[in-house]
Amino acid sequence: MRYTLLVLLLVGLVGCSTNVTEIKVISFDVFGALMNLDKSLIRNIHNIVGDYITDSQVEALADEWAEHYGNTFWQYNSIIKNPAVKPADPNLFRLMLETGLHHILKKMNISEKIPRELQAKLHQCWGDLIPWENTGETLKFIHSLKNKDGSRRFKLSILSNGDRETLVNASKIFKTQFGFEFDYILGFSDAGIFKPEPNFYKVVEDQGYKKEEVLHVAGSQFDAIGSKSYGYKSAWNFGDRSEYVNLLGQKQFDIDFYLKDLSDLKKLLV
Ligand SMILES: *[C@@H]1O[C@H](CO)[C@@H](O)[C@H](O)[C@H]1NC(C)=O
Ligand SMILES: *[C@@H]1O[C@H](CO)[C@@H](O)[C@H](O)[C@H]1NC(C)=O
Ligand SMILES: *[C@@H]1O[C@H](CO)[C@@H](O)[C@H](O)[C@H]1NC(C)=O
Repeated sequence: MRYTLLVLLLVGLVGCSTNVTEIKVISFDVFGALMNLDKSLIRNIHNIVGDYITDSQVEALADEWAEHYGNTFWQYNSIIKNPAVKPADPNLFRLMLETGLHHILKKMNISEKIPRELQAKLHQCWGDLIPWENTGETLKFIHSLKNKDGSRRFKLSILSNGDRETLVNASKIFKTQFGFEFDYILGFSDAGIFKPEPNFYKVVEDQGYKKEEVLHVAGSQFDAIGSKSYGYKSAWNFGDRSEYVNLLGQKQFDIDFYLKDLSDLKKLLV
C-alpha cells in the first residue's frame, strides 16, 4: 500500500504531460478539499447543543449528518435530471441538510431534548468550517502569485455542492484570517445540479475560461473523476483518505495530481 501510494504521489507530482502553464483558474471543492468537515461539525454541534446531548451523541449526529449528505444528493440529481421536473430551488442544498437533520434527530430520539430554536441554529453548522492545516497559507500564496505584467497568475474559485449562502459563509474565514477573497463562489445555486454531473463543472467554464485553463481541486474521488471527465485538469486532495487511492490508481481515471496536503499545490504551480 505504502509503495503504491509513493508511486502515485511521484506520478502525481511530476504530472507527466499536464501543461501547468495553461492554467488560469483553480477551483476548489469546499467540504472535502479545503475544510475538515468532521471536526467542524463536531465543534459546531457541540457549541450549539452540547448542553442538551452527550458528547457521543454529538459525534454520532455529526457522523450521521455528513453521511446522509454524502448519500442523498445522488438521489436528488436523478430527480433534477428528469425533464418533467421544474428547476430545483437554488437553496436545495440547505433544504436537503435540514431534512436530513430532522430525520436524524428523530432516529436518534434526541429531537425532544433539543429546544426548537437551537435545532434551527444547527442549520448554520455547514457554513462555519475549519480549514485543513496549511490550507489558508497555501491559498494565500497562490493568490499572491503574479504574471510578468503584474496581474495575478491564478484566479481562485470555490466550486462546491453547497448553496450560495452556505459557501459565502464558509469562505469568510479566508478573508478574516488570511486576508484574501475568492474571485468566484460557485455551487449548487449556480449549477442547479450536484457533482459529478457535467453541468455542475460547466459553471467555471461559463466565467470565460477554456476547459484546459481550469484546474479543479477535488476532495473526493468521484469529484476528481467528474471534473477530469468534464475536461478540466484535476487534482485530488486525498489527505488521510489514502485507502481510496488504489481505486484511482488502476489507470481508469487519469487524475493529473494527487495531493497529500493542499500545500503540495505550491510545488506544482511555481
Ligand atoms: C503549454 O501551454 C502554454 C500556454 O498555452 C503554451 O504556450 C505551451 O506551448 C504549452 N506547452 C506544451 C508542451 O504543450
Ligand atoms: C426517547 O426519549 C424519551 C425521552 O426524551 C424517552 O422517554 C423514550 O423512552 C425514548 N424512546 C426510545 C425508543 O428510546
Ligand atoms: C450565514 O451567516 C449569517 C450571519 O452569521 C447567518 O445569519 C446565516 O444563518 C448563515 N447561513 C448559513 C446557511 O450558514
